[in-house]
Amino acid sequence: MGTSAEGRAPGGDGGLPGDRGAPAVPPVVLPESAVPGTDLPEPAPPETALPQADAPPIALPSVALPSVALTSLWTLHHRASAARRNPPLLHDPVAVALVDRCAWPLETWFGRPRSLPEQYLARRARLYDAAVAEFLRARPGATVIALGEGLETQFWRVGDGTAHWLSVDLPEVLDLRRAVLPHGRRQRAVGCSATDPRWAERAATEAPVLISAQGLLMYLSPAETTALVRLCAGHFPRGTLLFDTLPEWVAHRTARRFMTWGGTFRFPPLRATRRSSYLRTGPGRDRYTVTEHPIGPYVLGTCAAARPLHLAQRSRWVREVFLPTLVRLDPPAGR
Ligand SMILES: C[S@@+](CC[C@H](N)C(=O)[O-])C[C@H]1O[C@@H](n2cnc3c(N)ncnc32)[C@H](O)[C@@H]1O
Repeated sequence: MGTSAEGRAPGGDGGLPGDRGAPAVPPVVLPESAVPGTDLPEPAPPETALPQADAPPIALPSVALPSVALTSLWTLHHRASAARRNPPLLHDPVAVALVDRCAWPLETWFGRPRSLPEQYLARRARLYDAAVAEFLRARPGATVIALGEGLETQFWRVGDGTAHWLSVDLPEVLDLRRAVLPHGRRQRAVGCSATDPRWAERAATEAPVLISAQGLLMYLSPAETTALVRLCAGHFPRGTLLFDTLPEWVAHRTARRFMTWGGTFRFPPLRATRRSSYLRTGPGRDRYTVTEHPIGPYVLGTCAAARPLHLAQRSRWVREVFLPTLVRLDPPAGR
């Protein structure tokens, strides 16, 4: 582990599922100019232009990625497909352009995008986007630290032209990210585990800070989750932390199989995060104001049972037991 150098090409001699000995990924140059607005109430100012339609396709990376890292391609696959829906579930032109250009057999690995994961990932991204955009509106020039960022394209959806961005992920994932989504001058990256204090030490002097961990905690053990919250609290006592948790049933094997229906990819074990593991931060629960938001509701088909199932999601009990949750930890007012 360690800090990865900006712009390094992917390396290694393995391969992604379904491809061995693929050519190295050619660098993709995204000019620093306009990007179409987002579907947020106040569209973000331009960050980066979409790749040109005639830009060269992106070949498979010649790097072996562990299955936990490949989950970032699963989210990209569904986010792009959610953005292609009519009407779109999410406005994400950079994800669409990336999937259009990449020669990766995403449907072979992950199956055809399915409605439920599409809705889940689009809603989750929109909730994160709204929270980050609100934070940046109140604090222009602030720093967003995206833990487990993978191939998330949020910088291009909500970046306000002043925000500083720090991507943290496993080194091999950041190599791929930089190859296909080159970073601009306000973007930096640290290749290490989210539980490694090095990324926090790198950004410790920056304020204000929002730390987001979209789609990450399900890959951490309860002890690692507690350690991560403690790490954030220790280095950024006035920072805001956003993360999401899964209910028990999604962590179950059957649900994992459904998530890549028809595809060759097998999800690594997923973990549900209990409230106790993120409130156990050391000195006491008064350290944070906790806000929880269900990620839903979902449209569960068009058959006769679908409407009652949709309505049932209004029940607080159903939401708490069955829906994933976005959690926001803020320092208590006045700190
Ligand atoms: C489901 S993907 C989510 C990617 C992105 N946040 C999104 O929502 O599209 C999970 C990401 O977490 C990363 N990850 C898993 N364990 C990690 C760890 N211990 N430290 C840093 N990143 C990790 C994976 O490499 C992957 O990029």
